[in-house]
Amino acid sequence: MNPSSPIRRSLFLHASLRRRPAAVLRRMLELVDDDTLPGEPQAALERRLAELLGKEAALFFPTGTMAQQVALRVHAERRGRSAFAAHPQTHLDGWEMQGYAVVHGLRLHRAGDRHELMTTADIEAVAEPPAAVLWELPQRDLGGLLPEWADLRAQTDLARARGAAAHLDGARLWEAQTYYDRPHHEIARLFDSVYVSLYKSLQGVAGAVLLGEAGFVAEAGVWLTRLGGHEPETWPQVLTALAGLDTLLPRMAAFRAHAIAIAAAINKDGAAYAYPDPPQTPLFHVHVPAGRRAVTEAGAAILAERGVQMFARVRSAPDPRRSSFEITVGENAMEFAPEEVAGLVHELVERAGGT
Ligand SMILES: Cc1ncc(COP(=O)(O)O)c(C=O)c1O
Repeated sequence: MNPSSPIRRSLFLHASLRRRPAAVLRRMLELVDDDTLPGEPQAALERRLAELLGKEAALFFPTGTMAQQVALRVHAERRGRSAFAAHPQTHLDGWEMQGYAVVHGLRLHRAGDRHELMTTADIEAVAEPPAAVLWELPQRDLGGLLPEWADLRAQTDLARARGAAAHLDGARLWEAQTYYDRPHHEIARLFDSVYVSLYKSLQGVAGAVLLGEAGFVAEAGVWLTRLGGHEPETWPQVLTALAGLDTLLPRMAAFRAHAIAIAAAINKDGAAYAYPDPPQTPLFHVHVPAGRRAVTEAGAAILAERGVQMFARVRSAPDPRRSSFEITVGENAMEFAPEEVAGLVHELVERAGGT
């Protein structure tokens, strides 16, 4: 245990607890021997994901940010169109400094309402013909909401009918799969290109994989090189991702079941409100009747006193007396009984002065 970190237990997926170098190195060592050659793990990971997701080809990228911007660029160049459509809270707009526009000259059409899932009507309403429509499954900023399967199929069909590619931001496809309860390749089949993350619920060091038909992925590889994303060795990222596929992917349904139990306990207690109710994936939001600053301070006090980290950040709400935070159930949150989390949330609300 690192005495400089106050965190002893955490409800936050990316807490330092399981990301310490010694723990990560132990995971890697389980997957290699003296005869393993440097390029082999990457090729093995790409083959494994192409098979799992039923795509012709897969390519490792250093980040999802690079992978998705490249995917959209290739779709745009192939169609001679510069626009793409995505949910107003897409990661590309909120967290990537508008790289799609500044680096790639693309234009984003925000489709639909900020606080609701995208609909077919929202896609129809995009007036400029899009090169691609992007879906984030699940929609993280809506508490991990997912469109129903029939809606998703209708939406991807519509995108293609409009001459656009269907692209999946599958940073959390591993979580989304637990709701649809269909094989990963059936979900991926709805999309022309798919990005998955290696370091979120798979707990890798970093990295992403972009998948699609062979020609598309080859073209994406040109941009990977142009943008300086080609790395001589990727095995540190790749080995931790392979470990995640072996050990964490099979647990995703159990993570979802525990998320549902935690959310039910929070809602039974009643001091705060877990949404969606019940959660569709291992990810959900806790809506708290107290403002962002007060909740942040209350969380910091609980961490300092008891070593329990409840969240990484608190989201503000239009109503200044309310805020929310995210819980993603992975190995960290499995250590908490649902009633304990409900008790912590209750205490948090009281300390933040919530009503
Ligand atoms: C939904 C979503 N898409 C894309 C990304 C980008 O991934 P990366 O951090 O590998 O650039 C993230 C990262 O948090 C994400 O949450």
